[in-house]
Amino acid sequence: MYTYLVTGGAGFIGSNYIHYMLDKYGDDIRIINVDVLTYAGNPENLSDIEQLPNYKFVRADITDKEAISKLFAENDIDRVVHFAAESHVDRSIKNPEVFVQTNVLGTAVMLNCARAAWEQPDGSYPADKRFLHVSTDEVYGSLEEDGGYFYETTPYAPHSPYSASKASSDMLVKAYIDTYHFPANITNCSNNYGPYQFPEKLIPLIINNALHGKKLPVYGDGKNVRDWLYVMDHAKAIDMVQEKGRLGETYNVGGHNEKQNIEIIRIILDVLKEQLPDDDPRKAHISEDLITYVEDRKGHDRRYAIAPDKIKAEIGWEPETMFEEGIRKTIQWYFENTAWMENVTSGEYRNYYEEMYKA
Ligand code: NAD
Ligand code: DAU
Repeated sequence: MYTYLVTGGAGFIGSNYIHYMLDKYGDDIRIINVDVLTYAGNPENLSDIEQLPNYKFVRADITDKEAISKLFAENDIDRVVHFAAESHVDRSIKNPEVFVQTNVLGTAVMLNCARAAWEQPDGSYPADKRFLHVSTDEVYGSLEEDGGYFYETTPYAPHSPYSASKASSDMLVKAYIDTYHFPANITNCSNNYGPYQFPEKLIPLIINNALHGKKLPVYGDGKNVRDWLYVMDHAKAIDMVQEKGRLGETYNVGGHNEKQNIEIIRIILDVLKEQLPDDDPRKAHISEDLITYVEDRKGHDRRYAIAPDKIKAEIGWEPETMFEEGIRKTIQWYFENTAWMENVTSGEYRNYYEEMYKA
């Protein structure tokens, strides 16, 4: 029975991953979720599983060496899946330091504590110990509009403080692999969407604003391209890389689903109109008139697109959820979870929104 230490499991991807793993393996695995619960961490995301005997939540900061080494000392951890991070590019532009603190220093602490717990006197590691570092395609920088893909061999060229901090954390993982033969993998994934995503990110922000008849802010000309992947497909990729990946290797994960931001917004409006019953008063709000072009993001990367060839060839993973299906499931989830949205859009979120969008 493997024991997983998941960092940042109360966030968007982490909570979906925990659901995926417990659905797949049931009580054949044990999960310890360590999360400090920043504005982005929400225990409500896991309320349906919190009573399970093989799930445990520990509130701690990944930069806290003592707390993390205690977790390794008290539990025989087999697998680390490291999600915890500051993840929003706009916030990194306003306040970069916390990104370095959490994403770089926090990763260093995780690596150091795992190595201290796992390394044997001869420098080797037991076969079942594996560390998976969850990273992003943004480390590769920006692609031209008319072509090219990110491969695992693409040189790193991060532009935002967020992507620079994630690139630094990747470099630390690579250094541990090279220096200590540390048993790790890195996944660099494209934009995720799905249930439990905090509405500072494009898709949930547009769904929430449209339902409330609020303006839909489009940065720049709206033609920046992202490669969207349904979050459960990402969860599956992480599990497959951890079980089947060659140790020390990096795997790119992507949806083969490039879309301009303005296309995404129009699709969301169409699906909202299609899914809301005629007598729902929110239907009256849904209109392209809400689309509002605003000042561009500083240093805004133009296009991201992943070539997931290596993960398909070596591991057999490929995206399964078509965007048309995934966006419908996502919007349906937000319809059914209006209380979740109301809870997360109170307090700190309102301050953030007013400051960010001057609204
Ligand atoms: P998120 O912001 O929704 O969640 C981050 C989680 O980390 C939160 O629960 C937060 O409380 C926790 N956390 C933050 N600082 C912490 C600290 N110091 N100690 C302990 N916990 C802390 O992020 P997400 O979108 O779920 O992303 C998860 C990971 O996946 C990140 O590493 C991100 O870089 C990466 N990633 C995200 C995407 C995406 O599209 N969202 C795509 C590729 C990679
Ligand atoms: O590519 C993977 C990355 O995807 C992850 O590493 C990040 O953690 C994740 O936040 C995401 O980064 P993006 O910056 O691509 O996502 P975001 O949802 O913030 O923005 C998507 C696109 O939409 C981007 O081009 C900016 C634009 N945008 C975003 C917001 C919030 C708007 O036009 N208006 C908005 O209000």
